[in-house]
Amino acid sequence: MSLLQVDNVTKTFRGLRAVDDVSFTVEEGTILGIIGPNGAGKTTLFNCIAGAIAPDTGTVRLGGADVTGAAPHKVSRAGMARTFQLMKPFGSMSVLENVAVAAMAHGTSRRTATGTAADVVERVGLSRWRDARSDGLPTAGLKRLELARALASRPRVLLLDEVLAGLLPAERLPVMELLETLRSDDGVTLVFVEHIMAAVMRLSDSVLVLEQGRVLTSGSPAEVTQDPRVIEAYLGEEPAGAGS
Ligand SMILES: Nc1ncnc2c1ncn2[C@@H]1O[C@H](COP(=O)(O)OP(=O)(O)O)[C@@H](O)[C@H]1O
Ligand SMILES: [Mg+2]
Repeated sequence: MSLLQVDNVTKTFRGLRAVDDVSFTVEEGTILGIIGPNGAGKTTLFNCIAGAIAPDTGTVRLGGADVTGAAPHKVSRAGMARTFQLMKPFGSMSVLENVAVAAMAHGTSRRTATGTAADVVERVGLSRWRDARSDGLPTAGLKRLELARALASRPRVLLLDEVLAGLLPAERLPVMELLETLRSDDGVTLVFVEHIMAAVMRLSDSVLVLEQGRVLTSGSPAEVTQDPRVIEAYLGEEPAGAGS
């Protein structure tokens, strides 16, 4: 049984099929990369999977359990977490407090949440910034904080929406290495949306290509990047684009 199974998910906004009959599965302990031009429906797909919006049709199963249309906190309790493309930490709170709030959203005690938060903050390499105000973090730190907040729920599946966007090339490698160890050491299954093709190639076991809401193709990184339809869909696309 696949850890994550998405079947025929469709989401329409005023007649626009932002996500159009998308199906895919993710096996436990693997990494799926999702690519596609701006507006292809990647973030909307994440929103449908993580419970931020309910799909019009289709189903989302996590570990066999149907979580379609479930509220985000229920999806989270079922073992799935996500990062947001547009980060929104509580600026006046410290890094540790922000992560503790995310950990507490799960009904755990303040003490347990603070302990979890301290672990996770260290895990993402933010120990030095632990007590700093979140609005004082540089972009790379904010990205790590966003990761830490998602990890605070100890997810089995982590959805990452453009975590490398906005980072300098030199800042990307350590984040990629962190994602690799989340999989190898913590057993977290990853689904990530990314424009940086070098990261997609390096991290993904398989790649799903979206275009205008539909699955254009899927396969190994080498297979999809040699697909003429993929190359065509990317023509004119800024490879390191920040996304929409
Ligand atoms: N809340 C919304 N209301 C109306 N249209 C939306 C909404 N969210 C996304 N869209 C539209 O759905 C399409 C897919 O957007 P999005 O999922 O953000 O794409 P991507 O993340 O691949 O860039 C776009 O045309 C976008 O304008
Ligand atoms: Mg997006």
